[in-house]
Amino acid sequence: MTLSILPAGEAARDLPVFASWLWLEWGRRRGRTPARSLSRLASMATAAGLPFGCCGYWAGLPAGFACCVAEDLDSRPELSPWLASVFVRPDLRGQGIASGLVEAVATEAKARGFADLYLFTPDQQRLYARLGWAVIGREHDLGEEVTLMRRTL
Ligand SMILES: CC(C)(COP(=O)(O)OP(=O)(O)OC[C@H]1O[C@@H](n2cnc3c(N)ncnc32)[C@H](O)[C@@H]1OP(=O)(O)O)[C@@H](O)C(=O)NCCC(=O)NCCS
Repeated sequence: MTLSILPAGEAARDLPVFASWLWLEWGRRRGRTPARSLSRLASMATAAGLPFGCCGYWAGLPAGFACCVAEDLDSRPELSPWLASVFVRPDLRGQGIASGLVEAVATEAKARGFADLYLFTPDQQRLYARLGWAVIGREHDLGEEVTLMRRTL
């Protein structure tokens, strides 16, 4: 089976599925409502600029998501844009889906004119290091220590 990736604008029918995953993983902890998580994804159906989203499909079914946003970490407002909300359906993990989605976001960010991309992660440094990201510092997010990384596009 192979991964196919659609821009969020071409996956409108499935955005509620992707949004529910992101809300359960992060949105509820950040005090967002499910409706807010969905409207956030709907705002990612842009053809230029930010934000934009990449929707991953495996065997034709929603499998994972990743996006690019202007701001993500409150303590580093000067850095932009950010790879964010990288999520893969639990039963499909370990098959390269996140890697494919991260590459798709990086390629699209470069096509949209950006030279660098940032991310923060509490525990997935190894995955991103394998994909060419470098550690540039440590920060805190919601009281948790996170690693700040950058990739030159
Ligand atoms: C982190 C996450 C996106 C990875 O997705 P994935 O599709 O499994 O990623 P890939 O297959 O491209 O690479 C997965 C890594 O996990 C390893 N792996 C192998 N089997 C695995 C399994 N069953 N489940 C999870 N990871 C597995 C891979 O070997 C690889 O290891 P690496 O650390 O050496 O790179 C996914 O686990 C997830 O959605 N987690 C919850 C949300 C999250 O933490 N997102 C990242 C925020 S920074």
